[in-house]
Amino acid sequence: MSELLLEVEDLGVSLPTSSGQLHAVDSLGFSLREGELLGIVGESGSGKTQTALALMGLTPAGSRVSGSARLDGEELIGRPEAELNDLRGDRIAMVFQDPQAALNPYLRIGVQLTEVLEQHRELDAVTAAKRATEMLQAVGLDDSERCMRSYPHQLSGGMRQRVTIAIALLCRPRLLIADEPTTALDVTVQAQILGLLRVLKGSHYGAGLLITHDLAVVAEICDRVLVMYGGKPMELAAVDRLFHNGHHPYTRALLRSLPRLDRPESGLVPIPGQPGRPTGAGCPFRPRCAERLEQCAAVVPPRLDIAPGHLSYCHRSGPN
Ligand SMILES: Nc1ncnc2c1ncn2[C@@H]1O[C@H](COP(=O)(O)OP(=O)(O)OP(=O)(O)O)[C@@H](O)[C@H]1O
Ligand SMILES: [Mg+2]
Repeated sequence: MSELLLEVEDLGVSLPTSSGQLHAVDSLGFSLREGELLGIVGESGSGKTQTALALMGLTPAGSRVSGSARLDGEELIGRPEAELNDLRGDRIAMVFQDPQAALNPYLRIGVQLTEVLEQHRELDAVTAAKRATEMLQAVGLDDSERCMRSYPHQLSGGMRQRVTIAIALLCRPRLLIADEPTTALDVTVQAQILGLLRVLKGSHYGAGLLITHDLAVVAEICDRVLVMYGGKPMELAAVDRLFHNGHHPYTRALLRSLPRLDRPESGLVPIPGQPGRPTGAGCPFRPRCAERLEQCAAVVPPRLDIAPGHLSYCHRSGPN
């Protein structure tokens, strides 16, 4: 078995809102081994982004983060801001949804890359420029010299996202987090960028978290998948296992709502109701769950070990 790179235990993120504290992430646990790409999926509001921000130490002002997240054995949660600043961009890096917003419109791409290397690696300008150019080539920007001299608006959306990936990977982070990295791009470019994340894994970063709404994307490039709903984990399994032996009613509902190329006649079955967060200790999916039991409202669902490496958090323990 390869080495454990990230270990998340009982992670919680609570955010102040006008109607009190919101548990955006609650009792979340998962681990990541060297060389793995873990997909995190779930409908809007399920807590995917807040999970990523908690690992980066970037949750909103006033938030409370609890639990533990160890990167190569070192605790990330509760780290002083100065230490987190050193870690970000170096050992953990993140690619955001909107490359336009992630880049400074007034600085040439070359400057935006080399300043990361100057900050974290204290490289001289010539060495930093050489490393930056190589990185742009590694992410598929063949005319890297021209790209270094360009401003963000002179590049296409797909090229800009390649640049933000290059910036994220410059210091060979142990953990790369990509939060909906392709939703702002057109479909062909999406596929190229996602393929790139897969190709660069191992050589340019240790392990990755890919956050997306899209189970089809996860099936394409991830090794394992964590399904979240209402801030909580629903199911965690290897991709093949989840697609063929998904246990949790929410996972199966998500799968039924996907188009099937192999069975176009089967049709799509949307999940009834709106994503939400009922109060109380029980399963957050219960108002929309066709298989709910009486205890789902009041009792925290148990963690079921369905098979080695396959967990489901559900009161229904029997086979589907
Ligand atoms: N700054 C904030 N202040 C208060 N609540 C917030 C804030 N940001 C997010 N939330 C709430 O936290 C919960 C989790 O949000 P999060 O952004 O992590 O969801 P998500 O799974 O990333 O959704 P999406 O797929 O839409 O990006 C949601 O209920 C959201 O409304
Ligand atoms: Mg999000």
